[in-house]
Amino acid sequence: MPIKILMVCLGNICRSPLAEGILASKLPEDKFLVDSAGTGSWHVGHCPDKRSIEVAKKYGINIGAQKGRQIKVSDFDEFDYIYVMDNSNFRDVVHLAKTPEHKSKVRLILNDLFPDENVDVPDPYYGSANGFENVYQMLDEVTDLIADQLLKKHS
Ligand code: 4NP
Repeated sequence: MPIKILMVCLGNICRSPLAEGILASKLPEDKFLVDSAGTGSWHVGHCPDKRSIEVAKKYGINIGAQKGRQIKVSDFDEFDYIYVMDNSNFRDVVHLAKTPEHKSKVRLILNDLFPDENVDVPDPYYGSANGFENVYQMLDEVTDLIADQLLKKHS
């Protein structure tokens, strides 16, 4: 059974598809499965935002085949780690969790880089292309740490 990691944002078209693609590119596929979901349902079945696809492509990562989905209660059993992009996602996801064990799987992703600071990955949806580059760089930096931790813990 692979170790399963779920990346969560609001729409599942901008930030979490990037987080999924970037982390998956740093882990062996036979041991780890990375997926993503949104807390909202507006973009279920949609491809990631073009601007996320473009910035990922620039760094050699293809996220164009991903399809949006909404987080569901069974994800708390299915996944070993649930990383959320911002404090609002954190509140929404923890609210869905039914048990302390399920709640304990939820982490604000940038706290791995800036412990206890509760920094958001900003939502780039209404901003410029530069916002997507900024999100890419933040996620690239923190997923280096996450991949290292996962590989140490599960190898
Ligand atoms: P994401 O960005 O949470 O990074 O995917 C958003 C995309 C779309 C919407 C909100 C956030 N929306 O409201 O449609």
